[in-house]
Amino acid sequence: MSRLEFDFYESEDPVWNPALLTIPVPGIRKMVNLAATMDDVIHLSIGQPDSPAPPHVIQATVDAVQAGQTGYTMDAGLPELLDALADYNGERYGRKITPENILVTTGATEAIYLALTAMSAPGREFIMADPSFLLYAPLIRMNGGEVHYIPTRAENNHQLDPQEVIDAFDNNTHAVVLNSPSNPTGTVYPRETVETIVQEAAYRGIFVISDEVYDHLIYDDRDYAGVLSCCSDLDHVIIISSFSKTFSMAGMRIGWMIASQGVIRKLRRYHMFTTTVANTPCQWAGVAALKGDRSFIADIIKTYKKRRNRLVQLVEQTPYLEGYMPEGAFYLFPSLPEGVNGNNVALRMLRETGVCTIAGDTFGESCRNALRFSYATSIENIEEAFERIIPWMEKQEFS
Ligand SMILES: Cc1ncc(COP(=O)(O)O)c(C=O)c1O
Repeated sequence: MSRLEFDFYESEDPVWNPALLTIPVPGIRKMVNLAATMDDVIHLSIGQPDSPAPPHVIQATVDAVQAGQTGYTMDAGLPELLDALADYNGERYGRKITPENILVTTGATEAIYLALTAMSAPGREFIMADPSFLLYAPLIRMNGGEVHYIPTRAENNHQLDPQEVIDAFDNNTHAVVLNSPSNPTGTVYPRETVETIVQEAAYRGIFVISDEVYDHLIYDDRDYAGVLSCCSDLDHVIIISSFSKTFSMAGMRIGWMIASQGVIRKLRRYHMFTTTVANTPCQWAGVAALKGDRSFIADIIKTYKKRRNRLVQLVEQTPYLEGYMPEGAFYLFPSLPEGVNGNNVALRMLRETGVCTIAGDTFGESCRNALRFSYATSIENIEEAFERIIPWMEKQEFS
């Protein structure tokens, strides 16, 4: 929904706060609900790893419950987890982080909610790539803020041009939302892009909110430019991540936010009024994840890379789809010809071939002709899906 279509003070149903109008029916739910009524569906729609959490992480959860760790933790998070996160992030990004720079949240989702809704207000503008992860824009608009989209394109690997971001800065710009690797595009921004945006934003007092939940899922030995390694101080950055993707802990709902102590103090209070604290046994699971063996991450990267390569090949062989090589996460966001309605294509493809994908308009306004394919599924499923998709596409007549 564009800003122009949305009237903050007009509600169709007087029971609810009109701000709820900013929340669309998620395209993902529509597709998955329809798929649930069908037989023999292959899902290329999944947004979470297809394997369970590592055994030592599961064991740590069980141990915590059995040891009676079933009460609330401290509001900022379990002290052992705050320490472990400070060490882990400090080592990974080569900068000193203290536990006072961290807030443990109910998944990255809560951290995104806290950061965006606490900052968004009428007259404030938030810059982000179009397409972007589906939570950002509604949470900003819900509190009266405005979204300034910068369209990215498949033919350019959905890279964000830092100069376009800088050119979009004006007196109303409040923050830039980054997400590298990106959901839905799998794009990883080069260090130069992240550094330029972070530095130019800080210089103007503009915040960078960086969602880094796919930070380990990077292929081809590429450098990963986390914002913590690109900022000169924490004054204007909020880094968000979680255990959901790397450690297959999506259902355990533990995430975190790293920022200046002032930002954490402010949002810690908001967090108490939102979810109180994150799940206690699963915070212990997080400690085990960070302190235990992390060698399995190299294996999952190898597995995803093979799947990605096969998916990219199959998309290349598919009429009407324009792909590219995504460098991270587990998504590819190819385009259909300009003007084709991706929503209709995704729905018909699901009904007629039983392959479930997600339409581009779930993620923004300038990508209605795109489809999101997830490769968080086996190579066999990916190949079987394209045995159905390719002949189906051959029969279409898109101009
Ligand atoms: C970019 C992005 N951010 C955040 C999330 C939510 O993560 P969590 O499970 O930690 O709440 C997702 C989940 O799909 C995501 O893709």
